[in-house]
Amino acid sequence: MTLIIENDTRRYIRDLARILTELYRYEGYDVYYRAPTVEELESWFRSMDPDYDPLETAVVETSKGIVVGYADAWVMDDYQPGYIRVIVDPILPEPLYTEAYASLLRWAGRTLAYYDRSVNPITIYAGREYSRSHITLESMLGGSLTQVDSGTLMEYRGSLSNPIPPGLVEELVVENPGETVVRELVEVVNDAFSIYPDHYPWSFERAWNYYSTQFGKSKGEFFIIVLRNKDTSEIAGITEITYYDTAAGGKVGYVALLAVRRDYQRRGLGKYLLSRASAILRRIGVEKLVLDSVPEARRMYEKLGFSPVLKWVKVRVPLEAVLSI
Ligand SMILES: CC(C)(COP(=O)(O)OP(=O)(O)OC[C@H]1O[C@@H](n2cnc3c(N)ncnc32)[C@H](O)[C@@H]1OP(=O)(O)O)[C@@H](O)C(=O)NCCC(=O)NCCS
Repeated sequence: MTLIIENDTRRYIRDLARILTELYRYEGYDVYYRAPTVEELESWFRSMDPDYDPLETAVVETSKGIVVGYADAWVMDDYQPGYIRVIVDPILPEPLYTEAYASLLRWAGRTLAYYDRSVNPITIYAGREYSRSHITLESMLGGSLTQVDSGTLMEYRGSLSNPIPPGLVEELVVENPGETVVRELVEVVNDAFSIYPDHYPWSFERAWNYYSTQFGKSKGEFFIIVLRNKDTSEIAGITEITYYDTAAGGKVGYVALLAVRRDYQRRGLGKYLLSRASAILRRIGVEKLVLDSVPEARRMYEKLGFSPVLKWVKVRVPLEAVLSI
């Protein structure tokens, strides 16, 4: 195994797409999601989203020159001070898998230490709970690790009634928002999510980039349902929906975002938006409807007929534990 520090992501983007496809199949995510394409990965790396803007990236190669693992490390103020993500091809046999994982993790820890030793503890993205990645982290870092609930993938199993739109709002379906609407959407999202203390605010630039990617898809594959106050025309709530063709040939609908401005919460708008999303997706022929829920919204989704199917985890560890692997 050779570790290569390579920040020109174009060089290994195809390898990364292949590894992610393997990972989605191995961990059973491909029933719910499609792995990102090379074009989507390129666009994420180019985007201004801090989730895709690492300090440094590295890959590991086998002696035959095949890339089998990828890692990146970030320092993000306030939000997630020091953050590491390691992705290793899950079909690698032992001890190669653990060896590749350990060398990427050590490299990422040293990178964080080089940039800022005060980022402590650090957060490592572990994927699905009890995935190969999570189990490997547990066995390497043992007692020094704390598990953090980082969200739940939930599948809709009920039948959402289609309530009458709450009287104060009118509904619009937007297929491609211009700059003014994106500015409004950013404001609504930041207002809605500000109820969570660790919310990382969205900027116009990140949102613009995100919507450019989404609307780069074929027409009709991504849309936003907007509820505007009939009197003031301010946006009260939004939901964004898309769908994917899965490896097995079906269609999975995905609620990419749901947000209701604080002043309008608990008045049935969230429920109405979800029922509309579900109705639109069913018309397209979607068989499953899923979403990623933040831990705080899980109860609400359960009330609405969603069931948890898998849990995403992050782990927190002292930087020293990673440096001493
Ligand atoms: C989650 C959110 C969209 C809900 O919107 P809302 O318009 O307030 O929800 P509704 O009024 O339609 O409520 C729907 C149901 O969930 C329940 N509910 C709403 N908020 C809840 C909460 N915080 N905890 C528990 N239940 C809740 C309601 O009681 C209602 O159930 P009922 O019909 O049995 O009474 C809104 O609170 C929000 O924008 N939150 C911040 C962003 C967020 O968490 N988005 C989802 C991320 S995955």
